[in-house]
Amino acid sequence: MLNFVQQLPVGPAQPTIPQSYAVTRPTHGSRIDLDAVDNSQSPFGTVAMTMLTAFAFAVSGYAKRRPRHSNAHRKKLRPVACRASAEVMTKTEEACLTDEVMKSAQECLVNNYGQRSIVATHGSGNYLFDSEGRQYLDFAAGIAVNCLGHCEPGWVDAVAKQAGTLVHTSNMFLNPPQVQLAEHLVASSFADKVFFANSGTEANEGAIKFARKFHVAQGQPRERLVAFENSFHGRTMGALSLTWKEKYRTPFAPLMPSADFLPYNDVNAVAAIDETVCAVFVEPVQGEGGCIPGDSAFLAALRSRCDAVGALLVFDEVQCGLGRTGKLFAYEHVGVVPDIVTLAKPLAAGLPIGACLMSDKVAKAIEPGDHGSTFAGGPLVCAAANYTLDRLDNEAFLANVDAMGHRLREGLRSIVTPYGCEVRGVGLLNGIVCPSAQIVTAVQGVARENGLLILTAGAGDVIRLVPSLTVTAGEVDECIAILKQAFDRVDIPYPSVVGS
Ligand SMILES: Cc1ncc(COP(=O)(O)O)c(C=O)c1O
Repeated sequence: MLNFVQQLPVGPAQPTIPQSYAVTRPTHGSRIDLDAVDNSQSPFGTVAMTMLTAFAFAVSGYAKRRPRHSNAHRKKLRPVACRASAEVMTKTEEACLTDEVMKSAQECLVNNYGQRSIVATHGSGNYLFDSEGRQYLDFAAGIAVNCLGHCEPGWVDAVAKQAGTLVHTSNMFLNPPQVQLAEHLVASSFADKVFFANSGTEANEGAIKFARKFHVAQGQPRERLVAFENSFHGRTMGALSLTWKEKYRTPFAPLMPSADFLPYNDVNAVAAIDETVCAVFVEPVQGEGGCIPGDSAFLAALRSRCDAVGALLVFDEVQCGLGRTGKLFAYEHVGVVPDIVTLAKPLAAGLPIGACLMSDKVAKAIEPGDHGSTFAGGPLVCAAANYTLDRLDNEAFLANVDAMGHRLREGLRSIVTPYGCEVRGVGLLNGIVCPSAQIVTAVQGVARENGLLILTAGAGDVIRLVPSLTVTAGEVDECIAILKQAFDRVDIPYPSVVGS
């Protein structure tokens, strides 16, 4: 039976928050029964009731003023077909919940993510649970986001405390968690200043603007941006212009002009960077592109070339940064110091945040009004990030990432090498390069059936493994065992057989 009730531990310093309260999973598909929500347990309930009452008054006044036929555009909500008790669901009810959610999703959600095969309901440690009571070892970690696993108690505590203190102010005012986070990022990196955003793509949009402004401030505006083959920098128009995959870019043309792609890890290619280049964007380890570590010589050559021609060097560490490679920042592996680093995914361990770290040289060019965001750097997300960064910025923690990475790569090599697959990666950003995308899809399907979640990368021909950074030796071994079963079950021709 599933345990749907989670105790959120809350520290004693915040009297407005109950010592513990139950977060109960809604047990039906598309609607939450407000009558069934017990507000008496929580101060949030009081706030919610006040807001609901105010809202009801406003709506009733508004409704009186609206002509009767103005509701015509509204569609009837489908009745909730299954409504089980909050804590126990039968197999039929679980299947019903899954069907309800999937059906409603098909009707109401834009299809940009395609069909999803799992309805996730809750997580604990490095395991994710679905609406049918299945448990998965989570080596996808919300696409390299859940660096502390799911619902890590200290993180939950930090978020709950801040949620009962101050959640949002906008950037019209300072808030202590934001400044504390900036201080920590500056103290632990090359950077002198920080700008906060809400996601990886936004951090890169910020970096594009800051790089452009840097050259404007020098009195010599430069437009041209350089990125690399197989790069992924995001989906908004600027970051998308720096993203390699044609499939992502072509339908949205015209994108930002003046973005060029050079071959990754090609020292000779850096000669194409000249005095017209504003900034060079590069991932020190490519994630989505296929888990490809950048060569030290290549990244050092980029630094020298950027210095020679006056271009800024931007390291996109949205995926590979903040401990994933076994060092807090990926640039530490190669001893190359960039002008800007962009961060996002793991920074708040599951809440949305992005950050642009920069040297004073760049920051000096930024003036009030040049850039901004309503939500970015809010107290709630920054409190989550402060807790997360305190955990990540720790030698023993990072050493464990490194050790688990080695264990994973060694174990994987022993099972996939006979199939002609290559294992590559750094720390806990690892890929298995397979002979075809079909094999990857098949292995991914069998692994899921057997309780393991994994991602793909590259041209779909790479299995990407990005577990939480708290993954244990036992969990690494469990992943390897499930993948072994999957590789054994999928009909992969041995290279010798293929060659004969
Ligand atoms: C290296 C890199 N940069 C940028 C992004 C975009 O981040 P987000 O999805 O948070 O916008 C990603 C996302 O996968 C990424 O891996």
